[in-house]
Amino acid sequence: MPKDRYFTGLDIGTTKVACVIANRTEEGKPNVIGVGVVPSDGINRGVIQNIEKATLCVQEAIERAEKMAGVKVEGVFAGISGEHINIVPSAGMVALPKANRDITREDVERVMKQAETMRLPADEEILHVIPRKFIVDGKVEVEDPVGMIGTKLEVKANIITGATAAIQNVRKVVERAGYKLYDIVLQPLASAASVLQEDELIHGVVLVDIGGGTTDVAIFTEGSIAYASIIPWGGDSITNDIALGLKTSRRDAEKLKIEYGVAARNFIKDDSVKIRVPGIGGRKDKEIPIETLIMIIEARVDEILGFVNEKIEKSGLRDFIGAGAVITGGTANLPGIADLAEARLDLHTKVGVPREVAGLKDAVDNPALATAVGLVLHAME
Ligand SMILES: Nc1ncnc2c1ncn2[C@@H]1O[C@H](COP(=O)(O)OP(=O)(O)OP(=O)(O)O)[C@@H](O)[C@H]1O
Ligand SMILES: [Mg+2]
Repeated sequence: MPKDRYFTGLDIGTTKVACVIANRTEEGKPNVIGVGVVPSDGINRGVIQNIEKATLCVQEAIERAEKMAGVKVEGVFAGISGEHINIVPSAGMVALPKANRDITREDVERVMKQAETMRLPADEEILHVIPRKFIVDGKVEVEDPVGMIGTKLEVKANIITGATAAIQNVRKVVERAGYKLYDIVLQPLASAASVLQEDELIHGVVLVDIGGGTTDVAIFTEGSIAYASIIPWGGDSITNDIALGLKTSRRDAEKLKIEYGVAARNFIKDDSVKIRVPGIGGRKDKEIPIETLIMIIEARVDEILGFVNEKIEKSGLRDFIGAGAVITGGTANLPGIADLAEARLDLHTKVGVPREVAGLKDAVDNPALATAVGLVLHAME
């Protein structure tokens, strides 16, 4: 395990690469001391497509954070996402040789190893093994069996897998940038650590990270992840729709979205506003009513939320989502998105930003940085 005094999270996203460096406050809370964010290049739908370009972005993001923090980073905890991610249930069982002795940490490790032994396609590997519950002697369900007495120990776990090629590319990019890769963490697990609260995890919650290229849906029940799925659309699809619909460049479409965008027509504050849309390649600008822009945004946001709803249905876990939904990721900045999601998902919904951090709080007070901050929390564990 790393011995650094600093903890570094690296979120290699479709839209931006974000690096967050923290140390600990006296109370052990994460204290953010450096943040570096650069626009992404060479990353598509959450997956690295061009090693050289992605390496440059990673290098720059970490260097910026280092400069702000005034420290030199040795290694990082990086996130991973993409459609290649799978979550599969697994189980393990071990006999406890001598009766009437306490179950030890080693017994737990043995049964976890059992749960890990599963046939995987040759091009996939395990990212996380997450114990859901332990069962002692086939009857008693416990959270932590250490110290209990029994003759048989079982575990029910969830295994998260990813494509070897995608995992190797994260490693390559970090190492080529000149840093060590301490661990790779599933992005929704990282985001969950920074935005979700303990009672949400226990009562059941769906975390929806709407980034640029992907929308990550993760359902947590009884304290741990029970379902995960990655939808290959996000805020960049909204921008593309605006560019196509209004015949303007993607760069200008992005600007219009950030400046005037709301999630749906009923969130428009003043519908008399007219928007100036720059033409492409020297063509004349034109003026449109704000409603025209918002209709385009609303259609795509509604579609994405529709996919999220389908995933929730498919998970079969709707009845276990007691707390509701949390929307995070950069697109969570779109005013009205929580209300729209509340109606579309039929779940009590709020926007989630990184919580419980000290230091440069303002620099990470943005749902787009949920993953990067969550990676730091994983690093500190
Ligand atoms: N104020 C805003 N209003 C609307 N959209 C916004 C706003 N701020 C950021 N976004 C959108 O958020 C998206 C980027 O989100 P984020 O930074 O979470 O993505 P990412 O982590 O790089 O991508 P991904 O997680 O999909 O790989 C972009 O599409 C951007 O346009
Ligand atoms: Mg992201």
